[in-house]
Amino acid sequence: MSTLSDSRFLRALACQSVDRPPLWVMRQAGRYLPEYLELRRQTPDFMTFCRTPELAMEATLQPLRRFPLDAAIIFSDILTIPDAMGTKVRFAPGEGPIIDDPANSEKRIKQLITPDVEDTLGYVAKAISATRAAMPADIPLIGFAGSPWTVACYQVEGGSSKLFFTIKKMAYDAPKLLHELLRKITAVTIDYLCMQIQAGANAIMLFDSWGGVLSPECYDAFSLPYLKTITQALKEKHPDIPVTAFSKQAHHAYSKLANIGVQGIGVDWMIDLRDVRAQVGPDVALQGNLDPAVILTTPEIVSEHAHRMLDQIASKPGYIANLGHGIDKHTPIENMHALVEAVQSHDYS
Ligand code: CP3
Repeated sequence: MSTLSDSRFLRALACQSVDRPPLWVMRQAGRYLPEYLELRRQTPDFMTFCRTPELAMEATLQPLRRFPLDAAIIFSDILTIPDAMGTKVRFAPGEGPIIDDPANSEKRIKQLITPDVEDTLGYVAKAISATRAAMPADIPLIGFAGSPWTVACYQVEGGSSKLFFTIKKMAYDAPKLLHELLRKITAVTIDYLCMQIQAGANAIMLFDSWGGVLSPECYDAFSLPYLKTITQALKEKHPDIPVTAFSKQAHHAYSKLANIGVQGIGVDWMIDLRDVRAQVGPDVALQGNLDPAVILTTPEIVSEHAHRMLDQIASKPGYIANLGHGIDKHTPIENMHALVEAVQSHDYS
């Protein structure tokens, strides 16, 4: 019987040889799948959906039933942490996440709690253990969290933002306060990810989706050190669990990320994979980076661009095929099939 040690995804993360690169897709669970939309209609409140282990498990497994993917990511959200810290999160239809009482003052940041993760976020552990038990033995389950910087962006801005001026202003005029917030999020995140690993997560991904809005100097001060603290803490407690960090559009950061102890680096579509490889050397796996706009087109165009991406990098070990960011809700199912087919049929010699 196949086991996790045969997993293409884990082997590629360890830069070991594989018959072909593994494929999974950021946001593969949810959004564009009709069976997900059907499930969501029955539980309209997104946070309630996340808090219900049976629903999170079902949403995690749905894409695996349709496509021969090489990893699953647990259905949850990066905003479970701010929710547990006292900055309650709600999702308004068409508006994205909203925090009505954001942590944008000294008073609010001091009020934030450092919750016991088993008590407040145990629903994620339950979803992971149930999903792990229901999954094929050789397919890894990815656990995840936001980077402290990216979580703080939502917590301080009160939701999504175009310019992030509230939190970026804080970085310049109240750096100590922002560090206090980032330290609190980091402590909760470490406990949260250890809980996910104990529940059965086989790899961890850190989503630093807004790392690229910082200047290199601010990134080095407000995002990188916290990614490092989390990675090092996990390495100490769970040395066999690989960590991937995705600092979207922080193109100055690749060689720095390669030195904080991660096994994998997520790459967005705005840079050539060969340039990133040249920056990081051969010992870190790269994951990405098809433009999510490509997969909105036609199977022929998806296939053409997927093969071009694979030509750039995929003949050498240490590569995981993926999009450069999350799959859009308008993606036609047949285009996902075309991506799978391109990865399966590519000439890797
Ligand atoms: O396969 C998967 O990726 C599903 C698990 C998952 C979700 N969110 C479910 C979700 C993961 C890994 C995330 C991460 C996440 N959440 C990030 C980091 C990754 C990234 O894409 O940048 C961020 C920034 C968030 C915060 C968030 N969650 C926003 C801004 C939104 C609304 C806008 C949007 O993208 O839809 C969400 C909602 C959300 N999270 C949905 C899903 C399936 C859509 C909600 C719905 O079904 O109504």
